[in-house]
Amino acid sequence: MSTEPPSPAQQPNPDSDGPWRGRCVLLAVTGGIAGYKAASLTSMLVQQGAQVRVAMTEAATHFMGPLTFQSLSGQPVVTSVFHSDDHHESQHVGIARWCHLMIIAPASADIIAKLAAGICDDVVSLSACALPRSTAVLLAPSMNADMWANPIVGRNLSTIQETLGYHTVGPEKGWQACRTEGAGRMSEPASILAAAQNLLSV
Ligand SMILES: Cc1cc2nc3c(=O)[nH]c(=O)nc-3n(C[C@H](O)[C@H](O)[C@H](O)COP(=O)(O)O)c2cc1C
Repeated sequence: MSTEPPSPAQQPNPDSDGPWRGRCVLLAVTGGIAGYKAASLTSMLVQQGAQVRVAMTEAATHFMGPLTFQSLSGQPVVTSVFHSDDHHESQHVGIARWCHLMIIAPASADIIAKLAAGICDDVVSLSACALPRSTAVLLAPSMNADMWANPIVGRNLSTIQETLGYHTVGPEKGWQACRTEGAGRMSEPASILAAAQNLLSV
C-alpha cells in the first residue's frame, strides 16, 4: 500500500459528509500518558469528515500502538524519518505540504523544547520544521505539574508562540497520571477539536 499522502482535493473522506470534509490534518503524537486521548481525537476528526494522517515519535509508540491510529485514521502511520514505502519525495515534506493543520497532542516537554530549538531528529519535529509558514499548528501540552511549572518549559513554549505563531490549547488542571492533582493535564479531545475548528473556521 502506498504511503503517499492523499491530496486534499482528490480524496475527501468518502465515509463522511461532516464539516471537516476536505480538511487534511496531521496529528502528531508524542510520548506521554495522554496518548490514549489522541486516539479519541483521531476518531472524532475522521467522523467529522477530516482526512487524518498520524505521525508518532518513537517514545509515543511506547504508550500507544501505531495500529490503533492506523485503524482509526484508515491511513498508514508515520513513525520514522527514514522509512517510507514508495515515495518520490521525502515523507516529511510530503505530509507537511499536504496538511491544512498540524495538531501535536499530546505535546511533550521534550517536543516543545525541540520545536523551540529547531531540532529535527524525529518525524514530528522534522515535519513541523518542514511546514509551509501559512500552515496552522495547534499544540496540546501534556505533562506532570512540576514539569509544566518548569520555567524552561514556559520559555520554550513562549518562543514557539512568539517566533512561529503556534497556537495552544490547555493544559488543564486536574487529576494526573502521577496520582496528584495539578496543572498540566492535556485538554480533552472535544476541547482540542473545538480549538482546531476555530483555527480553520470549520
Ligand atoms: C510513564 C511515563 C509517562 C510520561 N509522561 C509524560 C508526559 O505526560 N509529558 C511529558 O512531557 N513527558 C512524559 N514522559 C517523558 C517522555 O516520554 C520523554 O521525555 C520522551 O523522551 C519524550 O519523547 P518525544 O518528545 O520524542 O515523544 C513520560 C515518561 C514515562 C516513562
